[in-house]
Amino acid sequence: MTDPVTDRTDTTPDLSSRDPNWWRQAVVYQVYPRSFADADGDGLGDLKGITRRLNHLAALGVDALWLSPFYPSELADGGYDVADYRDVDPRLGSLDDFDALAAEAHRLGLKVIVDLVPNHTSHQHVWFQEALASGPGSPARDRYVFRDGRGTHGELPPTDWQSVFGGSAWQRVPDGQWYLHLFAPQQPDLNWANEEVRADFRTTLRFWSDRGVDGFRVDVAHALAKDLSEPLRDLGAPELSSEDALSHFPPGTHPFYDRDEVHEIYRDWRKILDSYRPPRMAVAEAWVQGARRTLYARPDELGQAFNFEYLQAGWDADELRQVITDSLDSAHQAGASATWVLSNHDVVRHTSRLMLPPGTDDNAWLLSGGHAPEVDESHGLRRARAATLLMLALPGSSYVYQGEELGLPEVADLPVEVLQDPIWEQTGRVRKGRDGCRVPLPWTTTGPSYGFGAAGAWLPQPPSFASYAVEAQDGVEGSPLELYRTALRLRRKLLEGESLAWADDTPPGVLDFTRHDGWRCVTNLSDAAVRLPAGEVLLTSAPLEDGQLPPDTTAWIA
Ligand code: GLC
Repeated sequence: MTDPVTDRTDTTPDLSSRDPNWWRQAVVYQVYPRSFADADGDGLGDLKGITRRLNHLAALGVDALWLSPFYPSELADGGYDVADYRDVDPRLGSLDDFDALAAEAHRLGLKVIVDLVPNHTSHQHVWFQEALASGPGSPARDRYVFRDGRGTHGELPPTDWQSVFGGSAWQRVPDGQWYLHLFAPQQPDLNWANEEVRADFRTTLRFWSDRGVDGFRVDVAHALAKDLSEPLRDLGAPELSSEDALSHFPPGTHPFYDRDEVHEIYRDWRKILDSYRPPRMAVAEAWVQGARRTLYARPDELGQAFNFEYLQAGWDADELRQVITDSLDSAHQAGASATWVLSNHDVVRHTSRLMLPPGTDDNAWLLSGGHAPEVDESHGLRRARAATLLMLALPGSSYVYQGEELGLPEVADLPVEVLQDPIWEQTGRVRKGRDGCRVPLPWTTTGPSYGFGAAGAWLPQPPSFASYAVEAQDGVEGSPLELYRTALRLRRKLLEGESLAWADDTPPGVLDFTRHDGWRCVTNLSDAAVRLPAGEVLLTSAPLEDGQLPPDTTAWIA
């Protein structure tokens, strides 16, 4: 018997629960579980806390939530060091708590996406413990990337590959061998040429799909396939270990990023994901540029890939227009839906970032405590609101990071004593890391952690968080929260098709496009107010001035 909903050929989603295309133009809200809401008062967010606050997401009007990892983990990298892919960290709850969360989300009409971390496990994973206990050459070691070292006594790492978090990507174990970790030493890389590894992730995909999750976010999707043919190749320069170095290699040939063979893995997964009704969606976290990135989003692979070029674009009309046009073209060519993102748990929050002059070194800014250069918080919020209405008008899915609906700024002045991100220590205290965007959310204007939990929070919240709290914004006309709510409600009604048409006669510094007959979005990134095209003004990110669109403002017009 065929399932009638899977026979839809129209790609415009109706967002009903059985629509296989629901994700193509969805708004997905990223929950960073440790920092969302703490039900048991231990200072760390948990699953019960999320379940209790799901009404916030329903009232916001998003379509889905994506949960960053909540699996057992020693939190060497905020949970991206997974000790067991098919369980819940006891500090965050239990599998029953997960089921309750998913049931409540579904009752509220929200889809649930979980994070899959296939590039590396935690060093506490039973497999890695087994690999340490079994000697060199054992099948247990073959699930990871173990090699003898170089030098007379094997005292040098097997290659010059560098970890993303700083330092060598190799760590030595007591018997003298070395293992590969592209991230922290507590995150040993798996060997995806090993059939047992592949089989186990198929089991994990089924485990969560059977539990009713609607999709997967795939961590570091571009690094799974590695060239492990002997002898392993040196790169010759440390910077060639970085994702930015991909252009120095013929496409698909870097020893560990974006290799052509990685796509076989996702084609295999797609068969599993498509065996569910509706098919489970997936989105790749692949720090790869342009058309190479959208290969991960082909319909027979993951379907979507995060668009980090959009996130990295400056607050500049020409640059944004180019990125938007290129992104839509490459998504279209791949048969994928485009994605847009401004903030996540790895980058400086966009309320602050969009104010940093082009070329600013984010790390130097963080090390200055957010003072060099000084960022005007209210101007940043104005820009962020304009950027949000622009993003939400674009065809495709938008990924929203918890707290951006409150207009939260980056907490750039966290004292170094409280930093938890492994980047800080692993770079020899040179790079401050990502804690400034992970500070727990403020729900109320008072209380020990502004309603995050009954006790304190695992990262200190600045006093200014009181004024950003949900309680301070709920029902307050013009607040960031109400802007998001109104925009998401309107967007739902306006969605149609997956394309846009740029206006021809746009003044410099202005972005102006029409989605379809009724809906036009104009953003003014110039220094002067501009005239608005004719039509009914549906929503603006800041008040109009004398009927004109002021700088750093977006308007939706019908
Ligand atoms: C991804 C995650 C990041 C994590 C890294 C290693 O980039 O977004 O937070 O540190 O993978 O798992």
